[in-house]
Amino acid sequence: MVKLDIEGIIDDFPTLNQDVNGHRLAYLDSAATTQRPIQVLDAMAKYNKISNGNPHRGAYQLSIRATEEYDFSRQRVKEFINAREVKEIIFTRNTTESLNLIANSYGMEFVKEGDEIVLSISEHHSNILPWQRVARQKGAVLKYMYLDDKGRITDEEMDRVIGSKTKIVAIAHMSNVLGTIHPIREIVERARRVGATVVVDGAQAVPHMKVDVRELDADFYVFSGHKMLGPMGIGVLYGKRKLLEDMPPYLLGGDMIEYVTEQDATFAPIPHKFEAGTQNVEGAVGLGAAIEYIEDIGLDSIRDHEMKLMEYTLDRLLDIPYVGIQGPKDLKSKGGIISFTIDGVHPHDVSTILDAYGVAIRSGHHCAQPLMKYMGLPATSRLSFYLYNTKEDVDQFIRAIKNVRKWLGYGA
Ligand code: ALA
Repeated sequence: MVKLDIEGIIDDFPTLNQDVNGHRLAYLDSAATTQRPIQVLDAMAKYNKISNGNPHRGAYQLSIRATEEYDFSRQRVKEFINAREVKEIIFTRNTTESLNLIANSYGMEFVKEGDEIVLSISEHHSNILPWQRVARQKGAVLKYMYLDDKGRITDEEMDRVIGSKTKIVAIAHMSNVLGTIHPIREIVERARRVGATVVVDGAQAVPHMKVDVRELDADFYVFSGHKMLGPMGIGVLYGKRKLLEDMPPYLLGGDMIEYVTEQDATFAPIPHKFEAGTQNVEGAVGLGAAIEYIEDIGLDSIRDHEMKLMEYTLDRLLDIPYVGIQGPKDLKSKGGIISFTIDGVHPHDVSTILDAYGVAIRSGHHCAQPLMKYMGLPATSRLSFYLYNTKEDVDQFIRAIKNVRKWLGYGA
């Protein structure tokens, strides 16, 4: 087992070992994408050098190896999230594609006029727009659960919104803006009472905390490889077998069929029914290697490390009078994400000035405009941690933050 020794870990990440604008790089935007360790880069390079072939198509060695590697990664994902069966794991390009697949297949097939689709107000656009389309085309109604003043969904709010007409509840496990960990178990319990299906966007949660899809009992759970040390272009859709079997395919084409005639076709069993066309085997291999790396360190250690950094950062940020922090401050209901504003400074200026000090954060609406409107803010700045971050990154960030207003001519 690798030990969570931060110095050792940083050496695994080539992108983090560089200077930016004359400063060491403090990468604090892992909620947008994570950096990749050499173990992941090497696994993909090895696949490309030795095993590249089109899986499921050839009787020759390269195709067989590609198939084996692809299947092995699927098995790894299954074990990582504790799915019941390997066929419940569908590879997609990313969380967005997984959510579009569910909305366009399950949503379009099963949502009926007058049904209600429940979202939280803190959803990413990729968990809003597909449902807006389903609601428009099927004559269904979109309803939102709002957050309390601590950035959380209360029991009362769930009871107010989830009711007998609810057909689908689609919600992020962890908000990409506020870091709020939403109460998925409680939501699933309420959904079960009314026969609704629960779709969880786990993009921000899976990399940072132990997720057991059987324990959560959500019907669908989706996430992306690139937010968990893997490459871009590979994502996961977990769905309960019965639901996946009952759903029509989303993309049609090669490798997802059983038999095709001039006028008709029958489809392959899951997971292949949902994997039309040549798949991203290299990406799946990278994701498998990323899972191995995460498991070697351990999700409990990762969460513990991030929470220590959060405490260290919040202690310092809360001391700065012109900094406002959005969302929960209680670490139990939060991941390693802090959204903040600086009085008198536009968030875009904050990130541009921080970049001059080698600090990478994201500013903007974070693809969550309904949440921004709800909070009465045009945008926020956001820092987000992962296992490779250190107190040195935080110190560099705080020093830079203390310079932001000076750059713009304020006294302090
Ligand atoms: N969803 C990613 C983010 O929150 C891109 O930054």
